[in-house]
Amino acid sequence: MAKAAVVERVVFALNGRRYEVAGADPSTRLLEFIRTQTPFKGTKLGCGEGGCGACVVLIAKYNPKTDEVTEFTASSCLTLLYSIHFCSVITTEGLGNTRDGFHAVQKRMSGFHASQCGFCTPGMCMSIFTSLINADKSKGPEPPKGFSKLKVSEAEKAFSGNLCRCTGYRPIIDACKSFASDVDLEDLGLNIFWKKDDKNPDVSELPSYTLGGGVCTFPDFLKSEIKSSHDHLNVDSTAACKEGWYHPRSIKEYYELINSCVLSDSVKVIIGNTSSGIPGYKDEDLYSKYIDIGGIPELSNIVKRESGFEIGASTTISRTIETLKQDMVFSKLADHMSKVATPFVRNTASIGGNIILAQKYPFPSDIATILLGAGATVCLQVVEERRQITLEEFLEQPPVDPTTLLLSIFIPHWNSDSQTETTLLFETYRAAPRPLGNAVSYVNCAFLGHASVDQQSDTLVLSNLHLAFGAYGTEHAIRVKKVEKFLTGKSLTASSVLGAIQLLRETIVPMEGTSHSEYRVSAAIGFLFSFLSPLAKGIPQPGKALTSGSADSTDTDYASNMPWPSRRETISNSDYKPVARRETIPNDDYKPVGEPLKKYAVELQTSGEAVYVDDIPAPKNCLFGEFIYSTQALAYVKSIKFKSSLASEKIIDVVSAKDIPSGGENIGSTFTYGDEPLFGDPIAEYAGQALGVVIAETQRYADMAAKQVIIEYDTEDLGPPILTVEEAVEKSSYFEVPPDLYPKEVGDVSKGMSEADHRIPSTEVKLASEYYFYMETQTALAIPDEDNTMVVYSSSQYPELAQSVIARCLGIPFSNVRVITRRVGGGFGGKAFRSFQVATAAALCAYKLRRPVRMFLNRNTDMVMIGGRHPVKANYSVGFKSNGEITALHLELLINAGISPDASPLIPGTIISSAKKYNWGALSFDIKVCKTNNTSKSVMRAPGDTQGSLIADAVIEHVATVLSVDANSIREKNFHTYDSLQLYYPDSAGEASTYTLHSIFDRLISTSSYVDRAESIKQFNISNKWRKRGISCVPGIFRAEQRAAPGRVSVLNDGSIVVEVGGIELGQGLWTKIQQMTAFALGKLWPDGIEGLLERVRILQADTLNLIQGGLTAGSTTSESSCAATLQACNMLIDRLKPVLDKLQQQSKNVSWDTLIAQAIKENVNLSASAYSVPGQDSSKYLNYGAGISEVEIDLLTGAITLLRGDLVYDCGKSLNPAVDLGQIEGSFIQGIGFFIYEEYITNSDGLMISNSTWDYKIPSVDIIPKKFNAEILNTGYHKNRVLSSKASGEPAVVLASSVHCALREAIRAARKEFANSNGSGSSPLGFQMDVPAPMTLVKELCGFDIVEKYLRSLSTYERSAEE
Ligand SMILES: Cc1cc2nc3c(=O)[nH]c(=O)nc-3n(C[C@H](O)[C@H](O)[C@H](O)COP(=O)(O)OP(=O)(O)OC[C@H]3O[C@@H](n4cnc5c(N)ncnc54)[C@H](O)[C@@H]3O)c2cc1C
Ligand code: FES
Ligand code: FES
Repeated sequence: MAKAAVVERVVFALNGRRYEVAGADPSTRLLEFIRTQTPFKGTKLGCGEGGCGACVVLIAKYNPKTDEVTEFTASSCLTLLYSIHFCSVITTEGLGNTRDGFHAVQKRMSGFHASQCGFCTPGMCMSIFTSLINADKSKGPEPPKGFSKLKVSEAEKAFSGNLCRCTGYRPIIDACKSFASDVDLEDLGLNIFWKKDDKNPDVSELPSYTLGGGVCTFPDFLKSEIKSSHDHLNVDSTAACKEGWYHPRSIKEYYELINSCVLSDSVKVIIGNTSSGIPGYKDEDLYSKYIDIGGIPELSNIVKRESGFEIGASTTISRTIETLKQDMVFSKLADHMSKVATPFVRNTASIGGNIILAQKYPFPSDIATILLGAGATVCLQVVEERRQITLEEFLEQPPVDPTTLLLSIFIPHWNSDSQTETTLLFETYRAAPRPLGNAVSYVNCAFLGHASVDQQSDTLVLSNLHLAFGAYGTEHAIRVKKVEKFLTGKSLTASSVLGAIQLLRETIVPMEGTSHSEYRVSAAIGFLFSFLSPLAKGIPQPGKALTSGSADSTDTDYASNMPWPSRRETISNSDYKPVARRETIPNDDYKPVGEPLKKYAVELQTSGEAVYVDDIPAPKNCLFGEFIYSTQALAYVKSIKFKSSLASEKIIDVVSAKDIPSGGENIGSTFTYGDEPLFGDPIAEYAGQALGVVIAETQRYADMAAKQVIIEYDTEDLGPPILTVEEAVEKSSYFEVPPDLYPKEVGDVSKGMSEADHRIPSTEVKLASEYYFYMETQTALAIPDEDNTMVVYSSSQYPELAQSVIARCLGIPFSNVRVITRRVGGGFGGKAFRSFQVATAAALCAYKLRRPVRMFLNRNTDMVMIGGRHPVKANYSVGFKSNGEITALHLELLINAGISPDASPLIPGTIISSAKKYNWGALSFDIKVCKTNNTSKSVMRAPGDTQGSLIADAVIEHVATVLSVDANSIREKNFHTYDSLQLYYPDSAGEASTYTLHSIFDRLISTSSYVDRAESIKQFNISNKWRKRGISCVPGIFRAEQRAAPGRVSVLNDGSIVVEVGGIELGQGLWTKIQQMTAFALGKLWPDGIEGLLERVRILQADTLNLIQGGLTAGSTTSESSCAATLQACNMLIDRLKPVLDKLQQQSKNVSWDTLIAQAIKENVNLSASAYSVPGQDSSKYLNYGAGISEVEIDLLTGAITLLRGDLVYDCGKSLNPAVDLGQIEGSFIQGIGFFIYEEYITNSDGLMISNSTWDYKIPSVDIIPKKFNAEILNTGYHKNRVLSSKASGEPAVVLASSVHCALREAIRAARKEFANSNGSGSSPLGFQMDVPAPMTLVKELCGFDIVEKYLRSLSTYERSAEE
């Protein structure tokens, strides 16, 4: 045993405090340590995969020789605790907090309304802060006072990789840009620092920022300790190997370790340990020993030689980028690497770790591909021997084991040869769902070569070619030697390029089972074409675009016509500068209601002090649980066993259906239409169904142990499961929709059809599911209490019903269960009914074990088990006149509801309600809610409405295509008149004056210059062969319904006020509106209101035994109904306080709030009032209106989608808080874009969700939101039945995102027109089915996988005929 390398303890600073840890499990992650062993809970767990940024912290390192501190971000969920020895870690609490004051980053995030649920906010703050201090260290000129050296162009990248599911990113960009030295403050969006019409906002109005960040990132005590330490590695040569963390300081020590008995399956060699976040290569079991090779000096050197760069294997990707960036030739490698993973992963991930992953596994590495293309070699140590071989040879060797150490990578210089007059060419490419990174590529490549002119043929010829391709479903990156050989020395013409491409198609063959394999090959071809076509004679570059007019469509220079990616750069850098117009019209009538105040307690969210369920300190003796779930649909569970492994040794217990106490029920969820079991017993009815809970001492142990499960199934006598709606129809497997919920048809469809000039017979459109992707996964903490009672902290949108499910499961009265919910880290409907199961399971485990039990589902389990939006298969038949007037629509809808009814019987109503936004003449439908053996589908933001809106617009666009007219003319032709609106929405149309859709639509068309832009797009599409644009404008009608809600307002002896409401704060700003409402309502005692009341209001967490009938927070109206209840309670207090005030005012005119309350107490006035607000029958339902325009651009070679611009106008009535409402509207629009375009909910043949990680499931990130995004909310005056005339805002704008889908269809249509007959469908190029979602892979497919070859073939035919 090599004792010399054992590390015994780890010493570091966390937010300036010294920590010394000895004896910790070496597999402990930094995040886990911070959250469970320190008071700091700000750093959050969102994924545990390096894919979301919730856990980002700043790590600082000190170099005692140079006295320099370097700071970088890191994902603390992947960083091992022992690897931060002698580092300083700063979390958001270290930037600022309630006691010491908040930091400028936190204050600006708050003031720009950049935090909604707040779960992503601490990570955002850390990414922004670290970018600022690193920018400030740069050599650039001193910025004006109050600013950082950060540039506007860097602001978005500052937090690229950090995901936010709520805000839509715009306000976060604004907060970040406010620090940039070159920002025009007037460009920034709504904030609390200056008024909208402030002409010259000044930096002094912003919370002040001092250059360098103003935070000590590395405490002196640690510097001294490092300096005085004789050995920075903290090695105790005599220590026994208790902890299993080894830190060899030389290659010799490494091999001593390897040769010692230490080497076994439970030993892991690491540098950054980021590979533990990668699905497929993730740790499947615990390791008891780690060898950290990052400290071996030979591995971290960077040597610049005449002949090239030698980069030590443990060099981080970030440092490699910094080094390569400084060299003109290598900067393309650096550019490509800057799209690998995220900044906070690149900062700790090593270049060597990446190459080893690529060597050992079929990992879709970018780095291996581009270095292969660059002709890199590697230096290896294999025990005693040192070898220098090419990267290509290394990749082809059998997978290495720990006896091979990768020492360094050498990238040779590839100079142009002036003697032979050759020009060096080098390009790299990657096709990935996100442009700036945080998404592995579908295919990547790098091309190196020399070009020279062949005087005779006047063509270019290539030599010294390296054409490398990777990630397309290959074991590892390869060079396509046949293609290289074919091209070498050949004149570059259309036919030689075609020949090369044909050879390429034969060479790169994805392995069986590779997803999107045709796409990958086609994109690879697109890249080779991009590289070769500008060099080839006879491949014309399209001429300049002819457009003029819209300033946004001036992308007409030569570069724009170059093949991708140069064109892509043109778009993102210059064309559509990221700007946002965020318009609101404030409403002064009910101050402070109507003011765009910052969110209640928002600073606590930024500083990480806001308490979510998992932040509640674990009580003594707390145990942790994780579900085990079925991977099969419809099978008897014969046995549940566990692999023998280190992780399974951690299992304390397994809780299952047999542990449900007598008198209790196997129930995990319920709603009006039926129950759902907690565990599949004895049959697992669907893949993803809970079968039990593994209990362990920590959450990570429970998670790892759950992975060890081996389940034996038996399907005998059960028949096949029903997995699709088609199978459900075959077997008549439906959920009943109660007649009062089934939507009402309108008119006579056969008559309408007979009046039509044209008919489109049954046409299909399919919409897939969508996963919630709240940043906080489902979580609960159950604590047994006296007398057979249970307290459950649950992240739930419906604590009242959670209480009843828990009580029924345990067989105890409802009064024995107290469910407490303070705030929820994002819900979007997923924590309405789906949260019960987690709360109930935790309660059952706590009940059985008589100990507190916490469950915090890991992201993968959450994705597999929780379900999502309803997939819908729609068929429409429509009849219309030649003038575009639609006379009849018939819909056939199959809704996949999954296994339990949940709220699914409501979905037909919401789909149809949304589809009724147009006057179809007559409307009929046949809707089936299918029961299938899948996870139960539940409500998700604008449930049903989202699908209905898309279906309606698919019909409109289809009609427009048939009539060859602009879709907007068809929309306008079929807008409702007020009369038809009443016919379609008899219970909710409201008064004629409130029907604002026409004016909204007109306003949007004019403010967004729709007509001019549509014209420019036509011209753009004529002028650009390989890029096409589309634009679409979509209206939305959303029917909202208010429910009854309770509220209690109490005034304490010091005049402070506490409010309890049934509604839950999910990020939607409910508490903020309640706070404003309370201040307004109690302030009514004085003619002009009263100052200071707002600050006295505190909103309490929901507690089902304190305030009963709390109800469900969903449907966008809970803020309103909770406000109504608050208003009612306040009015009761006013009635009691008014006589007291009158009496006091007889003595003195100026009676303060404190005096009034003091007197009221003396007079024994009851200062607590409860109300239960029940909306009137006639006023509870109403319509919301809005419209959205989207403009998109697609790249025909890769299918890449760029959202150029989005414009929204939304009628908010009299907004209770325009900042909150605007945030809801923007956020829901971006979430909708995710549904319509990006998020692929993929299941396997058993119905198990397999896109169950941040790697496969891509929610919108900051780099994909519209480059230009204008959102406007209208204050449309008095709505007599609404709470202070307000309207809902949380969900309706999701439906407007279907405009992106429609715009995409327009762009694809233009592409198909360009390459008519080349898409292989044989049908009309303009009529095609485009399902939801429509990611880049589908876009490319619809444009044609073979368009490059067809195009080249046509050119070579022309070439041949010219020669003849
Ligand atoms: C969220 C995320 C996104 C990513 N996206 C991309 C992407 O888009 N493109 C891409 O190419 N990559 C991507 N990666 C992969 C990333 O680049 C690698 O995880 C990283 O480079 C591995 O380095 P590491 O130091 O963390 O290695 P570790 O995780 O510490 O080690 C990885 C493996 O290499 C072995 N090893 C490490 N160094 C050596 C050495 N010198 N000699 C012998 N064996 C060694 C280890 O034993 C282990 O088996 C992503 C990773 C994450 C977490
Ligand atoms: S929790 Fe670490 S990146 Fe998501
Ligand atoms: S505020 Fe960003 S995830 Fe909720």
